[in-house]
Amino acid sequence: MNVDGKKYRTIWLSEDGSAVEIIDQTKFPYAFEIARLETMEDAAHAIRVMQVRGAPLIGATAAYGVALAMRADPSDAALHEACSALLQTRPTAVNLHWALDKARKSLIQIAPDSRAQAAFALANEICDEDIAINMAIGMHGMELIVEIAKTKREGEPVNILTHCNAGWLATVDWGTATAPVYMSHDSGIAVHVWVDETRPRNQGAFLTAWELGHHGVPHTVIVDNAGGHLMQHGEVDMVIVGTDRTTATGDVCNKIGTYLKALAAKDNGVPFYVALPSPTIDFSLSDGVREIPIEERGGEEVSRMTGRSQNGAIETIDIVAEGSDVGNPAFDVTPARLVTGLITERGVLAANRQAIAGAFPERVKASA
Ligand code: MRU
Repeated sequence: MNVDGKKYRTIWLSEDGSAVEIIDQTKFPYAFEIARLETMEDAAHAIRVMQVRGAPLIGATAAYGVALAMRADPSDAALHEACSALLQTRPTAVNLHWALDKARKSLIQIAPDSRAQAAFALANEICDEDIAINMAIGMHGMELIVEIAKTKREGEPVNILTHCNAGWLATVDWGTATAPVYMSHDSGIAVHVWVDETRPRNQGAFLTAWELGHHGVPHTVIVDNAGGHLMQHGEVDMVIVGTDRTTATGDVCNKIGTYLKALAAKDNGVPFYVALPSPTIDFSLSDGVREIPIEERGGEEVSRMTGRSQNGAIETIDIVAEGSDVGNPAFDVTPARLVTGLITERGVLAANRQAIAGAFPERVKASA
């Protein structure tokens, strides 16, 4: 996407090929800073501290992490060590497993001398594939928006609610949940996005709002608890969220709070869609609530808040009564029965095993 007139992906090889570069998402929304990853450890650190985040981008960064490791030491042992170190960084997004599995299986068959080159080529390929997938999701999702737009009065926008950041910044480009929004907006369809702030890390307020604002998409940031009220008053036409892992049966794991939006949507007859790139499907799982590992993050993300003070300084303050315990489960699972449709690169699917397997038979076969 364009940032101040310059085209960016969220991850790329530096011009001289000596490092991988990323947009450091811990600096948003106050600064746009590029960080350099020179080693596998840098890549693991970037995923762990969320300089990069979002399921597809985590997968792409891990693939580059393997490539950086192979450049330092292309042995079999180093390949296995790099994959297991990167796998430990974040537990929920299955794209991490998908990318590392792909890297390990293909690189182990290549002679060590050629491994680094092959690993960088694979990482580039994963990035290109992510963009192609998101563009296809955008086209299929736009058809849904177009149908709703037809029911609107002249100039009245389609109101879309989204949670967390399943945008350009969570992928290599376009985003998943945001791709239909950007494509609709670019095609002249009036859209307006309700952006859940998404506590505790504020990916909505910090990242999604920044992205939409830079692209000129009308949007309004709301507190996480406002969605149900807006739905009751007819202010939400559809929900589109992303996902970190979706089971073979269509249970959707996404940022904490997504499940409550799905419940409110169901109660109010608001369609609830999930933008789902196929690498985010975990064909080995059938019961999302019981089987998907939910990341528990540090309590300080809940008890503290960082922002820009009136004098311009970036400050971190305590916001919870001293001595209280805090809990921080980072994701939740929305059961398939609450999902209206899965917007995949191969079309909009019902959230059930038959529809998912029918659209991705080769993945089912590979996972058997
Ligand atoms: O903890 P994060 O910021 O990595 O969580 C991101 C999300 O929950 C996104 O909605 C999900 O990864 C989909 S990104 C296209």
